[in-house]
Amino acid sequence: MVPIKILASALCALTLSVTLSAQTPPAGGRGGGRGAAPAAAPRANPKFPADVVARGKESFGPSCGFCHGLDARGGDGGPDLARSLFVLGDENGQQLGELLKAGRPNNGMPAFPNMTPAQVKDMAVFLHERVEAARNREGTTPPNIVVGNAADGQKYFNGAGKCNTCHSVTADLQGIGGKMEPIALQDKFLSPRGGRGGGNGAAMAKKVTVTPKTGPAVSGTLMSVSDFAVTLRDASGDRRTFTRDGDEPKVVITDPLQAHLNLLRVITDKDIHDLTAYLVTLK
Ligand code: HEC
Ligand code: HEC
Repeated sequence: MVPIKILASALCALTLSVTLSAQTPPAGGRGGGRGAAPAAAPRANPKFPADVVARGKESFGPSCGFCHGLDARGGDGGPDLARSLFVLGDENGQQLGELLKAGRPNNGMPAFPNMTPAQVKDMAVFLHERVEAARNREGTTPPNIVVGNAADGQKYFNGAGKCNTCHSVTADLQGIGGKMEPIALQDKFLSPRGGRGGGNGAAMAKKVTVTPKTGPAVSGTLMSVSDFAVTLRDASGDRRTFTRDGDEPKVVITDPLQAHLNLLRVITDKDIHDLTAYLVTLK
């Protein structure tokens, strides 16, 4: 356990230094998003192909840069998207696309119903690259501190958060506060798939049902999907690939973590802190 303790205090130190450095914005970084954004140059990373990042940035700039800054690090009209939990929880532009269709007009985020799926995907890659760059620069995830109210967290768990509809503190989550450091625990419910540390791979895997025009529907664990093909592993463990042509065959993907992704859209900072404080007590 000793090395974990040391790691935890190192993370605390990092969190602290991030909090401090957040108060001194880098020159030219914030505000209106004018001019060259020095940190925006994409580094070579297979997850973020430079050409896709560049295309995403091109779509982002004119439509979003005015409020969020050309480098997405925030501006006068909109928040820093490189530290956004919403972006962190987005998968391949799926959540971003939904947000852009509707906007959050009451909160100053307009709707962009005419963005094409390709534009949304490119922008998502650009934004995820921004998140990664912020993490690399700052060496940590968004600030994590156990400062919440555990009793309110318990209420949220069994109430508005509906966590108890899938989890139980006397079954799957029993003792979780003793198994993980608070920072890892918080990461777990904010992004079970992306958080540090392993996780229950099988329980998190996306499922897919493919229904060809002729022949029976086939269900299984999603291995990969593109506009041209979908591959799944069926119950007997066989890999099966279907080529796609528009709506043929019908492909329905379900995500066991959808509730967690939805959570990112509605959970408040207070709820996050309270939940973490509560889960930490589950020893
Ligand atoms: C007129 C200003 C404005 C423009 C233009 C704008 N946004 Fe926003 N955006 C906002 C505001 C304000 C919020 C915060 C809304 C809230 O608190 O719910 C926001 C929130 C968001 C969020 C959620 C952040 C989070 O952590 O919850 C994302 C993602 C986002 N915007 C992406 C975009 C993209 C992509 C574009 C361009 C296609 C865009 N925005 C254009 C003002 C803007
Ligand atoms: C609709 C079902 C559903 C809801 C609602 C839900 N979760 Fe989850 N949660 C899952 C699934 C599925 C996993 C991934 C499989 C696993 O690790 O158990 C998961 C994983 C987790 C984990 C990681 C567990 C581990 O051992 O690694 C935590 C912590 C967690 N959820 C907390 C929460 C909290 C807190 C809420 C309420 C705000 C919540 N969940 C709401 C389905 C749900």
